[in-house]
Amino acid sequence: MDTTLEGKVAIVTGAAGGIGQAYARALGRAGAAVVIADINAEGAESVASDLKGEGLRTIGVGLDITQPESARSMAKTVTQAFGGVDILVNNAALMAEIPQTPLAEFPIEMWDRVMKVNCTGALICAQAVVPSMIERGGGKIINQASGGAFIGGGAYGVSKLALVGLTVALARELGRHKINVNAIAPGAINTDAGFRAAPEDSPFRAMMQQQAAIQAFAPPEDLAGALLFLASAASNYMTGQCLNVDGGWIMRL
Ligand SMILES: NC(=O)c1ccc[n+]([C@@H]2O[C@H](COP(=O)([O-])OP(=O)(O)OC[C@H]3O[C@@H](n4cnc5c(N)ncnc54)[C@H](O)[C@@H]3O)[C@@H](O)[C@H]2O)c1
Repeated sequence: MDTTLEGKVAIVTGAAGGIGQAYARALGRAGAAVVIADINAEGAESVASDLKGEGLRTIGVGLDITQPESARSMAKTVTQAFGGVDILVNNAALMAEIPQTPLAEFPIEMWDRVMKVNCTGALICAQAVVPSMIERGGGKIINQASGGAFIGGGAYGVSKLALVGLTVALARELGRHKINVNAIAPGAINTDAGFRAAPEDSPFRAMMQQQAAIQAFAPPEDLAGALLFLASAASNYMTGQCLNVDGGWIMRL
């Protein structure tokens, strides 16, 4: 299986966060030049500096995925630094920040914000980099969904299910340009945000513990295999799919 990424350029959004950081490291170790993009520009710089210390080719960039101008400016910076874009990982999202309020009372302003960041943001970033991918003869877009999409997981779950829908719609349109669009739906990942969203001793953690077939919780590194598969030539014949990487929590037929 060819998962080498030598000569490729990858952007990971939300890479100042727990999973994004692990994704960026995995892509860098596979040979890609990696762009650490986050609304937390200082955090992005700090992760980039860590990865540089590990000998990886990387830059940190401030990015607000809800702002088309910000995404276009990021794409320009990346092209100036590394020549273009081959891989986009739409990982940035709101999760722990979302209130657990029942949908019947959920504030609509917050609903709009969740949809804007968690779904529209992925489209905005795709729009910014697709021209470069087309110019380079193809590309890979990987959208970070969630098992929460398939269990009626409140506003968060709806936003992630919409992201799976966007994955399919983009895959249909971009296939002719040799751009594969797939998604990863993780289970419960041990990041700071993961612990804030589902604290120890919370009913959610207990439910995960009971439902996962292999194991309920995992470090971000356990998602890297799926990411490298979807980011590399190994998945050239696959598009419009969502891989559940969750220890056997969600099993879709
Ligand atoms: N941790 C889990 O258990 C888990 C499970 C399933 C899916 N996920 C998904 O994985 C991804 C990363 O999760 P994490 O645990 O690392 O969370 P995290 O909160 O550590 O990372 C999210 C990152 O996105 C950034 N971000 C937020 N809004 C942004 C914006 N408008 N523009 C640019 N960046 C923005 C944040 O600054 C943060 O660094 C998210 O998409 C999340 O929904 C996480």
